[in-house]
Amino acid sequence: MQSRFEGKVAIVTGGAGGIGAAICEQLATEGAIVIVCDLDIASANMLVKQLLDKGLKAEASETDIANKQACQSLVADIINRHGNIDLLANNAGINRRGDLLSLEDSDWLMSFDVNIHSMFYLCQAVLPHMIKAGGGAIVNTASQWGLHPAPSHIAYNVTKAAVAAFTQNLARDYAPKKIRVNAVCPGEIHTPMLEHGVIRSGRTIADLDAMVPYGRIGKPNEVAALVAFLMSDEAAFMCGSLVEITGAQAVA
Ligand SMILES: NC(=O)c1ccc[n+]([C@@H]2O[C@H](COP(=O)([O-])OP(=O)(O)OC[C@H]3O[C@@H](n4cnc5c(N)ncnc54)[C@H](O)[C@@H]3O)[C@@H](O)[C@H]2O)c1
Repeated sequence: MQSRFEGKVAIVTGGAGGIGAAICEQLATEGAIVIVCDLDIASANMLVKQLLDKGLKAEASETDIANKQACQSLVADIINRHGNIDLLANNAGINRRGDLLSLEDSDWLMSFDVNIHSMFYLCQAVLPHMIKAGGGAIVNTASQWGLHPAPSHIAYNVTKAAVAAFTQNLARDYAPKKIRVNAVCPGEIHTPMLEHGVIRSGRTIADLDAMVPYGRIGKPNEVAALVAFLMSDEAAFMCGSLVEITGAQAVA
């Protein structure tokens, strides 16, 4: 295995979830010190233990990324203990179902807090340190649905479109400082989030597999490999890219 991230310090939000855990494992396997940041501290601790048992470097942090102060404290604590933050995966997200007339105000507001305001808070806290260090890499998890809206998910689709626009704006403003900001836009990926959606809709994983031209939905480690590539020096000239990873699926 290559070690593209030896000694680098990485924050992964939603690090205990499906895609997040795969990103943590990939970065840690390649030498990074990974901060597994999640509301679900029990799962974060479990993942950290698994990584430590393999001789990798990881820490858990119980942080609500929808809270600006919590984001600032997380970053200040990491800087105090490690001196820098090289990599940031803004991966945590929630998916509240509903069209305009059925969605509760609280679901609309919470979708913005978790899916996009968190990125504003964390990037604002992290960027000064990356600038001081002479560079860094940020990968935001958007969604295919932010580019091509799926029906009856207005809060999710709009916030993920905002993630795409945020990514392009940040990339444009900070590329001169050698900070690369990119986004991944996954289609259907087999995670706890997807399983909840499948149960709600009365469909099965096999139904979803059949809708993907490649023949199956995606796996968390396939998204993690793309995130790691975008964070690595191999992607040195990629800034502001929105990379779809969908198995050629059109939104249905
Ligand atoms: N699974 C898919 O099909 C799919 C497709 C496209 C995009 N995505 C995006 O990928 C990302 C990861 O999704 P997933 O499928 O792994 O979901 P998941 O539900 O398995 O994981 C999300 C994680 O985020 C954490 N989280 C939620 N709110 C938080 C908060 N306020 N503070 C800190 N942590 C919080 C959860 O505890 C959970 O561990 C999300 O942004 C999601 O929108 C997923």
